Amino acid sequence: MSNPEFHPGLADVPAAESAVSFIDGKRARLEYRGIAVETLAKDSFFEESAWLLLKGVLPRQKELADFDHGLIKERTIHFRLLDALKCLPESGHPMSALQAGTAALAMFHPMPDVHNAQANWEAVIRLIAKLPTIVAAFHRLRQGHEAIPPREDLGHAANFYYMLFGKEPSPAVTKVLDACLVLHAEHTMNASTFSARVTGSTLANPYTVIASAIGTLTGPLHGGANEEVLDMLDEIGAPEKAKSWLDDAVATKKKIMGFGHRVYKVKDPRASVLQDLAEKVFAETSKPVCYLTATSLEAAAIPVLGPKGIYPNVDFYSGSVYQNLGIPKDLFTPIFAIARVVGWLSHWLEQIGNNRIYRPEQIYIGQRDQHYVPLEQRP
Ligand code: COA
Repeated sequence: MSNPEFHPGLADVPAAESAVSFIDGKRARLEYRGIAVETLAKDSFFEESAWLLLKGVLPRQKELADFDHGLIKERTIHFRLLDALKCLPESGHPMSALQAGTAALAMFHPMPDVHNAQANWEAVIRLIAKLPTIVAAFHRLRQGHEAIPPREDLGHAANFYYMLFGKEPSPAVTKVLDACLVLHAEHTMNASTFSARVTGSTLANPYTVIASAIGTLTGPLHGGANEEVLDMLDEIGAPEKAKSWLDDAVATKKKIMGFGHRVYKVKDPRASVLQDLAEKVFAETSKPVCYLTATSLEAAAIPVLGPKGIYPNVDFYSGSVYQNLGIPKDLFTPIFAIARVVGWLSHWLEQIGNNRIYRPEQIYIGQRDQHYVPLEQRP
């Protein structure tokens, strides 16, 4: 039998049938269960969009109220998990703390099998509810402060902000943060979602599934890019330096962080929504240098990279927004994770609903039929 064709990065190879989200990369279209993400970022909110992704339809009032109630009740974390977070080094990356904390949830909530729909739904609620608490608690602890317990009277986004800073966000800040969560909640078969599906296909428990996905999101080619965008903007230093920095980067074949996408060959629709949000946030203050540098870098890059289908992606403007909200750079990817957990769980439910373990092929390129040479006879 001849070898099947190899597609590096599995580009263009379908890895699942899915009804969760849809992308048209040429038309800048992203839909969650058929609804445009721009509409959801504007008219919906995180909890409602989460239900939509998980269940496939918008919730009725009672369903949403019960879902909200369940999330609020599950926000607290066990004191032993908090103790475990206290033992982690303050200098460690919060994504590693989040991955460790999420993996530890499996020990507090053992799930010997994943064929019980009610138990699975409880795990879904627990994971969505507890991830923000783990991130905020680790952030407080590493600064030498006590963790702030969650509040029951705040929505998901506002409560996360409160647990980080100990103060309630304004309605404008709440809307921006909430819209960021909606925009990051799901994105078809990206690396971390694939990772979740692969782990899920072994019938591993959902905490382990999500811990796998969190690990995959960490890398700079995936979720970690948003931090690197701010490093790059800091390195450029000023809007007027963007053009010469870009020329140099293109000449030395350096990648522009926050640009390019496997699927989008036009500007990522989420980048456009985030830029609008950034403009609104900055309307109340002055525009920060990093944002002005980003817009000037985009203007300089489009004529050079645009013809190759390389445009700003979701990470290009998210950092400028988060930084303006006072959120430290190394929490950008954990925030991505507390949103994306919804997409991962939607895919997990889909995967185990019609499961076959992932076991792809490889194309062997190594040697065959070699002799074993005893150690003392080796040259
Ligand atoms: N800046 C400059 N050139 C880029 C680029 C970028 N951000 N992204 C891709 N390219 C170029 C590559 O150099 C390559 O050029 P070549 O064919 O001349 O070698 C070509 O476009 C294809 O790039 P490749 O990395 O193979 O595409 P991919 O589909 O495998 O990767 C990304 C997609 C997202 C990983 C890639 O665009 C990237 O690394 N972007 C920067 C990191 C980032 O923003 N990630 C967040 C994604 S949401």
